Amino acid sequence: MSHEVVEKNIGLMVVLIVLVISFGGLAEIVPLYFQKDTTQPVEGLKPYTAIQLEGRDIYIRESCNSCHSQMIRPFRAETERYGHYSVAGEFVYDHPFLWGSKRTGPDLARVGGRYSDDWHEAHLINPRDVVPESNMPTFGFLADSELTGEDTPAKMKALRAVGVPYTDADIAGATEAVKGQTEMKALIAYLQHLGTAISIR
Ligand code: HEC
Repeated sequence: MSHEVVEKNIGLMVVLIVLVISFGGLAEIVPLYFQKDTTQPVEGLKPYTAIQLEGRDIYIRESCNSCHSQMIRPFRAETERYGHYSVAGEFVYDHPFLWGSKRTGPDLARVGGRYSDDWHEAHLINPRDVVPESNMPTFGFLADSELTGEDTPAKMKALRAVGVPYTDADIAGATEAVKGQTEMKALIAYLQHLGTAISIR
């Protein structure tokens, strides 16, 4: 078939373009489902504990991810500031992942262990108290709400259904682990976990 036929027949051109793009997409995307790099957890990665999991949900609810990314790109300026660049295997237990695309504040992928719990609490209550030039909003109200833990086992079961290795004991103890804790405490537990479970820091 000469190329002229395709150029003069827009219907045929559309069909061929769709075919070529679909094939290209499949060739790029499908192998990712079978590569160890993207499907296996990195060494040392643990599922979130019940309290960390609740903290993560508060992080999502408060939209922290609209100002903070959780993905360090493999560029020198980033790795010197934040630590080892992020790898796919760190996120296999994240549903959904919170990579984000906007950095009003710094990346938080490896913030765990960098500050004390007290620092985080002071910072969340009023960021200006510890970082005078900060424009981060205040989140002090999180200290006033207590978690019941009622939904935590159901959340863990849902995550287990998509491959997070929670044990029956994890799920049975979840409500007890969360009940009565403040949202502030849960959020800090989550922040302190970020990037700490893995050996490539
Ligand atoms: C409007 C944008 C905005 C939102 C929303 C926001 N932050 Fe921030 N955050 C910032 C900015 C800007 C900084 C840098 C100044 C500072 O440290 O306060 C920052 C800094 C931080 C830091 C210190 C990071 C470091 O490496 O020093 C942490 C931890 C943090 N934010 C957590 C959170 C959490 C948790 C939430 C949600 C409850 C949140 N932020 C919501 C803008 C935001």
